[in-house]
Parts: sequence; C-alpha cells; structure tokens
Amino acid sequence: MKTKLIKIENLNDDYLTGALEAPVNALKSGQVVCFPTETVYGIGAVWNDNDAVAEIFNIKNRPQDNPLIVHVNSVEVMKGYFSFWDEVADVLARSFCPGPFTLIMPKSEDISSPVTAGLDTIGVRIPSNKIANKLIELLGTGIAAPSANISGRPSPTNAQDAYEDLNGKLEYIIDGGKSDVGVESTIVSWDGKKLRLLRPGGVSLEDISTVLENNRIYIDIDTSAIEDLHNQEVALAPGMKYKHYAPKATVDIIYGKSIKEKIEYFTDSLSSSRKIGLYISSELHSELLANNLIKPDMEVIVFSDSNKHEEAANGLFEAFREFDRLACDNIQAEELVEVEIGTAYMNRLRKAAIK
Ligand code: TXA
Ligand code: MG
Repeated sequence: MKTKLIKIENLNDDYLTGALEAPVNALKSGQVVCFPTETVYGIGAVWNDNDAVAEIFNIKNRPQDNPLIVHVNSVEVMKGYFSFWDEVADVLARSFCPGPFTLIMPKSEDISSPVTAGLDTIGVRIPSNKIANKLIELLGTGIAAPSANISGRPSPTNAQDAYEDLNGKLEYIIDGGKSDVGVESTIVSWDGKKLRLLRPGGVSLEDISTVLENNRIYIDIDTSAIEDLHNQEVALAPGMKYKHYAPKATVDIIYGKSIKEKIEYFTDSLSSSRKIGLYISSELHSELLANNLIKPDMEVIVFSDSNKHEEAANGLFEAFREFDRLACDNIQAEELVEVEIGTAYMNRLRKAAIK
C-alpha cells in the first residue's frame, strides 16, 4: 500500500473539511488513519468497528491486552462512554478537556468494543488539536487511537516520524506539523472512590490538585503507579508493563542537582567506545563546552533555558529518533526537576532508560 501524506496548510474550517474528506471516508470504510493531536500523533479507527480496531493492534504490533483511548469532541459525548458521572468527573473534564488529559472510568454497560481489551473501564479524551477535532466532528463518532509508533518505539511528534514507522501500512497520514506538547496525555482513573494518576503528561499533578481544591473537592491523588517504574505490580495502566519510548540507542540520564553535579556525573560515565547523542539544556551545553567535554564525534540537541521543562518534553521523542538516524549508540539526556511537565519528561526518560 502506498502511504500518502496529507499536508494541512491552514486551520480554516472550510479548508479543513475539504482536506479531511479522503481520510474521513477511509475511516468510514473501516480503514486506519494517522492524525495529529496536541500531544503526539495517533493511529485511529472508528472506535466500535472491531475489524478496524484489530488492524490498529496489527499495524502497531501491540499486545492484545493493552487498551486504547477513545477520542471524542465534547464532554457530553464523553459522559456516554461511562457507567456513571459525578462531580469529580465533571470538574476534571470541564477543567482539562479539550486538552492533553485522558479520563478512565467504569465503562457504560452497552459497550463491548475491543478498545477496552476486556477491562470494565474505558479511557476517553478530547483533543484540543483543531485537525483532530474536525476529524472527529466530520466522522460523527469516536476515534480509538493509540500513539502512532510501532510498539516500544518513541511516539511520533511530527508526520515524518510517523511516516518512518507506518509507511506502507496505511493509506493516509495527516500532516499537521509538530505536536504542541510532545508527550502523551496525562491519564487519570476515577472509580468514584479513588483518583489515580496513571501517566503524567501535559496536565500536571499540580494542575489537578489546584482544580480539585478550587472546587472544594478533598480527595487524595494516588501517584503510586508512576512512582515506582521498576515495580510493575503497581502499574495500573496495562501499557505500562511494556518497554516504552525506546530508541535503538541505549539511554542514560545525566543526574545531578546542579550543573556542577551533572558535569561530574557526565565525566564519570563517559566511555570512548560509543557514539554519544546529548540531549541537554543550553546552560549545561555552555558549561560542557567551557570544560572541553563536548567531543567532535558527539551529536548534540539542545533545549532552551526559557520554558526549559516544556521545551525538553516537547523535543524528547523527536531527539530520540534523530539520534537513531545519526547512528548514536548511546543517548545521554539531562535530568530535570520533577515539577509541572518536568514530571512527564522524567517519566518518559526513565522508561526509555530501563535496561
Ligand atoms: O496523548 C495520548 O494519549 C495519545 C494520543 C494519540 O491521544 N495516545 C496514547 O495512546 O498515548 P497509547 O495507547 O499509546 O497510550 C494509552 C495508555 C496505554 O498505556 C494504555 O494501557 C492505557 O493508556 N489505557 C487505555 N485505556 C485504559 C484503561 N481502560 N485502563 C487502564 N489503562 C488504559
Ligand atoms: Mg503509546
């Protein structure tokens, strides 16, 4: 099959309707389509078309017990997928949707789609990306979509990276440029009693706590699923037990509470036998240069110091893929403080660094 890239030139409503006609028809006829979201690119199918959903698992080589997120375009529609709706769900959905936020709750009784992989819960999110939104609107139903990478690889954050994994496997990739957030959505599960953070993302733990507090909702947020990456027993999102986000190169983290500590750590871990890719802040970059520690055969990708955490998260997956193309054997990426989206950055980095 020849894969076509559909380049989106502008976000004008009429233009989008025309540009998305072919992929919408493809989805309606049971095909799988790759599309942009504000988090990462997704590979989608009509959520209750069992054959089309099976094809997503096929193309990605995704384990059958790993459920998919359904993408919809309003909170009203989102509600319909769940068996109950209460104040907590309402506050979370109205505060963070549309946006990089997935809500997992007990599924409505009449749902028997393979997207849930046999679980009695379902994950639903409302993307804020205008192209994704229009696609859902024109299709008129939810789109089941995991990230558009082959299982285990870094999620694609632009159409070329999606093409690298999917060329020849589907007909359309919608090219909407670079993803705004660059890491997958925050996943929260709520069963009416316990609120769990299953995956950190663009909506931070701090954001969730603030919103709950502002609405006088006093419940704890269980973060155990993300705290211990090595203890897979506690991973409640089934996908978390699989190796993730991994480039071909090995990944190491340049640890340190200060730039000085990071330089020491980096110096100690250097081995001349490897071609190294560095993913570092411009501050660390300057200091490594000043100390003569950047060697000519190293590949360096720098993120800026202003909005450091956002920038680092935004470019991480792209950098992983770029270092692979540059044939690096080892990637060394800088540790960042785990606040706001820094938590999501460190979470993806730690997972990629698991040996
Ligand atoms: O930002 C995102 O969420 C992207 C874009 C495309 O929307 N999608 C994405 O999907 O990251 P995926 O399949 O790569 O990751 C979804 C994660 C998986 O780890 C899966 O196990 C978990 O969500 N998940 C989905 N439904 C679940 C459920 N009912 N219970 C527990 N975990 C669930
Ligand atoms: Mg994924």
